[in-house]
Amino acid sequence: MPELKSFTREEVAKHNIEGDCWIIIDSEVYNVSTFADMHPGGAKLLIEFGGQDVTDDFYGLHRQEVLIKYAPKLRIGTISGEKTKVKIAQPGDISAVPYAEPSYWMGFKSPYFNDSHTEFRKALRNIYSGIRAEALQCEEAGKNPSSEIYQFLGSEGVLATQIGPGPWLKGLKLPSGIKGEDFDYFHELIAHQETGRLGAPGFADGISSGYSIGLPPVLNFGTAAMKAKVVPEVLSGKKRICLAITEPYTGSDVASIRTTAVRTADGKHFIVNGVKKWITNGTFSDYFSVAVRTEKGITMLFIERDDNIETKPIKTSYSAAAGTSYITFENVKVPVENILGKEGQGFQVIMYNFNHERWYICGSITGGTRDVIEDCFKWANQRKVFGKRLIDQPVIRNKLASMVSQLEAVENWLENITFQMCNMSYAEQSVKLAGPIALLKYQCTRVAHNVSDDACQIFGGRGITRTGMGRSIEAFQRTYKFAAILGGSEEIMADLGVRQAMKQFPKGARL
Ligand SMILES: Cc1cc2nc3c(=O)[nH]c(=O)nc-3n(C[C@H](O)[C@H](O)[C@H](O)COP(=O)(O)OP(=O)(O)OC[C@H]3O[C@@H](n4cnc5c(N)ncnc54)[C@H](O)[C@@H]3O)c2cc1C
Ligand code: HEM
Repeated sequence: MPELKSFTREEVAKHNIEGDCWIIIDSEVYNVSTFADMHPGGAKLLIEFGGQDVTDDFYGLHRQEVLIKYAPKLRIGTISGEKTKVKIAQPGDISAVPYAEPSYWMGFKSPYFNDSHTEFRKALRNIYSGIRAEALQCEEAGKNPSSEIYQFLGSEGVLATQIGPGPWLKGLKLPSGIKGEDFDYFHELIAHQETGRLGAPGFADGISSGYSIGLPPVLNFGTAAMKAKVVPEVLSGKKRICLAITEPYTGSDVASIRTTAVRTADGKHFIVNGVKKWITNGTFSDYFSVAVRTEKGITMLFIERDDNIETKPIKTSYSAAAGTSYITFENVKVPVENILGKEGQGFQVIMYNFNHERWYICGSITGGTRDVIEDCFKWANQRKVFGKRLIDQPVIRNKLASMVSQLEAVENWLENITFQMCNMSYAEQSVKLAGPIALLKYQCTRVAHNVSDDACQIFGGRGITRTGMGRSIEAFQRTYKFAAILGGSEEIMADLGVRQAMKQFPKGARL
């Protein structure tokens, strides 16, 4: 890094030609003489601005990360007697931009959160900022998250934060050093929100979506031997697991699956045949929690990868980093001890984690929605059109009002539901929360839809451009629908929510 010197504005103004070009950004001086030829926006343009203060123009065209990346090479000094005004985001920072964080982190009192949640959020954000560059590269190139990164997340305890509190957390190292026994659903909510904020949706699903739905059937219904082997392998990131239920013939209607498992003559094995579609993380998983049909009905089986299992990538609207796959099981031999729960009772195993899965999707989609709103506030404040900032236009303020009020409403509902999860037994949650969680998921994804639409209008052409200022808006727009389909689609969620409500409808109630 060049040694930083102090300059006057007059001195900088003299460096304004090709080969000798300096600019001022936020009271700091950059020598772009050599860089100009490599500048993605063009050399000529940069030289035209030589010797000038380009702060507003710079932030109208570049994300702050451009400066963070190039400053070590290009910054040569500061303007004497001036202080920088733009805050450079640091890893783990809690944002001060309005509505960029849930209300507790914006200074509100909360009955739910405490310092341990703040420390946990900061630690996780810090870990994620260390892998963000690689995450964005994987997202763009469609590369699977590497085993190194996966094992790093395992060793930091990040993987373990996404499957709920429970005995499996005992003794594990977790972000911020929180003890497994102190970890609650609010910590887990933060974990899903922070993953949703990564800005790399395919990569985020690549590191978290397979095991967070594939491992719970093992945790809750696996044999002791299976758990002792599989759980540490998966939580440390050494092995990967996914959940395979959906088939080309059937998605929402789980009861119609056709994959078969037939017992061998000696009764010791099942022979599994069938196909599964859209299985997240399937392309790189070692283990599969699979819904099959046996002579006794729908059954869940734990299956280890072997040569009779083929996993082909399926191209979807997000990155292949998610490992979305088409799986073919052809005469796969599975020991009968690998039944998860009881034969013929697979539906209960599938249902067991549905509330948790849907709730976690609410966490990650609200995290992503909030990230979009933060970008919109920043952009509306720094983009100037017709000589005014966008935020000075009432129409833009109205869009922000609509986005914020919708997100805050679902966030408050989400926190309320999370509190119930912390304080109800599993049995009570099953009775009371299935309907509200379904309706909450429905509403969270409707809000994501509305926010995505408004955000795209606020960003204009950049909202539909993969690189640059609108990068997160474009990615969100292309991918928020995943949350509206996975784990139960909007229509199914709305229907389930009202059906559950009607179960409690008092027989004698009349208008
Ligand atoms: C990227 C991706 C990843 C996925 N990951 C996994 C995974 O890891 N594991 C896994 O098992 N599955 C996975 N799925 C499958 C996912 O769970 C299903 O797509 C989902 O359940 C919907 O099923 P379907 O797409 O077959 O739609 P269908 O069931 O064919 O439904 C089509 C449409 O009709 C609507 N509809 C259906 N029934 C009704 C009704 N009764 N009333 C009103 N409307 C109705 C639905 O809402 C939907 O909009 C994934 C899917 C995708 C796209
Ligand atoms: C330290 C100084 C600068 C650096 C390191 C820098 C770097 C970059 C980078 C990396 C990009 C690509 C961004 C992306 O696609 O996400 C870019 C684009 C661009 N830059 Fe710069 N830049 C600097 C200064 C300037 C200045 C002073 C101007 C003019 C005011 C300018 C104008 C542009 C333009 C017009 C683009 C294209 C934006 C677009 O595609 O919408 N840059 N710059």
